Amino acid sequence: MSDNSIWKELDRRSFLTVGAAMGAAGLVRSADAESASLLQGAAPLQAIPFPQKLINTEAVGITRKTHDEHYELYKGYVTKVNEIRTKLAALGAPDATKANQTFSDLRELKVEYSFALGGVKNHELYFGNLGGKGGEADGAVADAIKASFGSFDNWKADLKATGIAARGWVWLALDLHDGSLFNYIGDAQNTYPIWGAVPILGIDVYEHAYFIDFGRARAKYIDAFFKVIDWDAVNANLKAAKAASDAVKAAK
Ligand SMILES: [Fe+2]
Repeated sequence: MSDNSIWKELDRRSFLTVGAAMGAAGLVRSADAESASLLQGAAPLQAIPFPQKLINTEAVGITRKTHDEHYELYKGYVTKVNEIRTKLAALGAPDATKANQTFSDLRELKVEYSFALGGVKNHELYFGNLGGKGGEADGAVADAIKASFGSFDNWKADLKATGIAARGWVWLALDLHDGSLFNYIGDAQNTYPIWGAVPILGIDVYEHAYFIDFGRARAKYIDAFFKVIDWDAVNANLKAAKAASDAVKAAK
């Protein structure tokens, strides 16, 4: 993967946290371009096509119906990102006299922008790491999981418990600074990202991700999820995140 494509991949698949981490190191490229374009009218974000490999999860009980509904929800986030970008652009030049921490157009648009864009990135990550052969991790991610959690089973147990404790998401993410992996908890599309932590695997535990197929039995949904993780996709995400981590370390 070229330097350029690594950055493109990271911009697509990781949180704004990557941009912040890179910014701190003076390495921002795509994130800079994005924030600068917000007030100038950014190009519309495009939804990814429906990932056909999602159909593979039918065998473990995560149905096509759920994915069809879920994909429409995802497209809704893309639409809202574009709507908010348009409205931010319409505000014109930044005006501190109109900004207000209790309520102001700028505040509300930027808060909901983080929710909408988080919704896009979270779902692209989740759709990307579904539809595989599941089972135990392989490749570099297997080694990284063992190094941070002691064993694959420890990681799996922690992800499941965190998934029960969460109200929206769990992300397995690489800390760019120390290279560790951690299962981060999220209650919404925009909580609680950690600066410099790049997600390499995500599981959506909002009810819409499983209620059609499993009712209230979220634990059964998580068990099914483990059976259809696409470890090749997770390994590709880890490779990109490690490249960013190397860049951060080299810049210090
Ligand atoms: Fe979702």
